[in-house]
Amino acid sequence: MKFYIDTANVSEIRKANEMGIVAGVTTNPSLIAKEGRDYIQTLKEIASIVDGPISGEVKATATDAATMVAQGKEIYAVDPDHMVVKIPMTEEGLKAIHQLHQLGIPTNCTLIFTANQALLAARAGATYVSPFLGRLDDIDEPGVDLIRTVAAVFHNYPDIDTKIIAASVRSPLHVTDCALAGADIATVPYKVLVQMIHHPLTESGIEKFKEDYQKVFGQ
Ligand code: G3P
Repeated sequence: MKFYIDTANVSEIRKANEMGIVAGVTTNPSLIAKEGRDYIQTLKEIASIVDGPISGEVKATATDAATMVAQGKEIYAVDPDHMVVKIPMTEEGLKAIHQLHQLGIPTNCTLIFTANQALLAARAGATYVSPFLGRLDDIDEPGVDLIRTVAAVFHNYPDIDTKIIAASVRSPLHVTDCALAGADIATVPYKVLVQMIHHPLTESGIEKFKEDYQKVFGQ
């Protein structure tokens, strides 16, 4: 499983990228709004940092396929080597995914909550689907089951090359669950990436090595 970072914060993206763990970036309207910066400029800067797929979502106010396709072309033009157009799972969204696919523009179908939605998006031509596990957990439905089911369904049809991005990842445990469930990618907030690095026994082990070393060799 690869890691994408789920943020529009350029400083977090730089820090994660320097660790060599980031294969791509996902953003959404809420994450972009949180930064309070120009949308297209932010995407441009992100694409200049990470050499991998960068998902930029159509505006939340775009509800018809024609508008989504027009905005999708604009997002793709930011950097055709990296940009992926993120489109919500709706009837109009599927039309937009289909049209963008025909134009050779990669898409990421977002707000996926059932395996059927994922299969529809794949058949419409989505390059990626983003099932949201955290938001299912929030309503007392096991989100990891969705990731496992989508992975099993796609596995049954070798002609499907749509990749699964596990989204709405909230904890290190979610990350392990996604890897076991067969997600191709987990898109992870910076905070969770950092939580994954740390373990109290690693930290106390480093302290112990330092103490023992200094006892014999000094500084
Ligand atoms: O990529 C979608 C993801 O950011 C949603 O996460 O935590 O808002 O459910 P969350």
